[in-house]
Amino acid sequence: MKPQVDGFDKVGSARPTRRGFLDWLISLCSLLAGLAMTIPGLMYLWPAARGGGSDNMEVEGADRMAPGQSRMVQVGGKAVIVIRDRKGFRAYSAICTHLGCLVTWEQAKEQFFCPCHAAVFDAQGRVVSGPAPAPLPAYKIKEVGGRIYVSPA
Ligand code: FES
Repeated sequence: MKPQVDGFDKVGSARPTRRGFLDWLISLCSLLAGLAMTIPGLMYLWPAARGGGSDNMEVEGADRMAPGQSRMVQVGGKAVIVIRDRKGFRAYSAICTHLGCLVTWEQAKEQFFCPCHAAVFDAQGRVVSGPAPAPLPAYKIKEVGGRIYVSPA
């Protein structure tokens, strides 16, 4: 049996062994699997990195939304939450003003919640608690022919 040193068949040889090649292949597969799991998570937490969505988006199914319900839309590539209340529709950025995670609308509590560091915003997007330094920016709502559109304020 040949002596092996760090995946090479003998000291001073440049020829890799089968074990060295398999170690390298396993490392490469582990790296690719790690990237495949990490990238979608980062895209969820930092949706601003995604593109898509026009600057004037229609809220699909707005007519079927009950008071208190919300819909997520993309306006100019940014995630926006549209809420229906008893008076009509309102829209706020879904991107937390702390570090940019995606906030969710908690219908039962009528507030926005950021799962990253537990920031809480009231129904008007104002900071209630947590590390967020600023309120959620509001978006403009326009009704045209019974359809609801969202655009930057
Ligand atoms: S990113 Fe939302 S609280 Fe930190």
